[in-house]
Amino acid sequence: MKFLVVNGPNLNMLGIREPNIYGRQDYAALEKLVRDTCAAENIEVNLFQSNHEGAIVDRIQAAYGDADGIVINPAAYTHTSVAILDALKAVGLPAVEVHISDVSQREDFRQISYAGKACVKTIMGQGLDGYRQAILWLKEYLEKR
Ligand code: DQA
Repeated sequence: MKFLVVNGPNLNMLGIREPNIYGRQDYAALEKLVRDTCAAENIEVNLFQSNHEGAIVDRIQAAYGDADGIVINPAAYTHTSVAILDALKAVGLPAVEVHISDVSQREDFRQISYAGKACVKTIMGQGLDGYRQAILWLKEYLEKR
């Protein structure tokens, strides 16, 4: 089984950006958590982080015929990007949306998720552990199919 884990803009600033919302662990810690979780579950993983919408679209497209599933935190693009939604739909891979914070309790402009419309599951408000939960959930989902 092979997963692509995608992180959108400003997630490279984890640990520095708004630690009261996103915590004090940095992107390297997130990467380690994802790699350790996948290694323990026998899942091959590619991680990708970009601050650029088109680069994220390109990477999702490249997963076609390569990955079995996608875990994605599109960050701010969650609430704006029809292009990322369309890319997820185009490749047709099961995807789980992750948000570190509980976006449901935040500003009105965060209440729409375009990417989420192409995802089989959303995990939010669990901190970095949400990525671990998403990987486990997606593995089980794929095994049950
Ligand atoms: C986020 C929530 C988004 O609203 C925000 O723009 C982010 C991070 C989260 O992980 O909680 O950059 O996706």
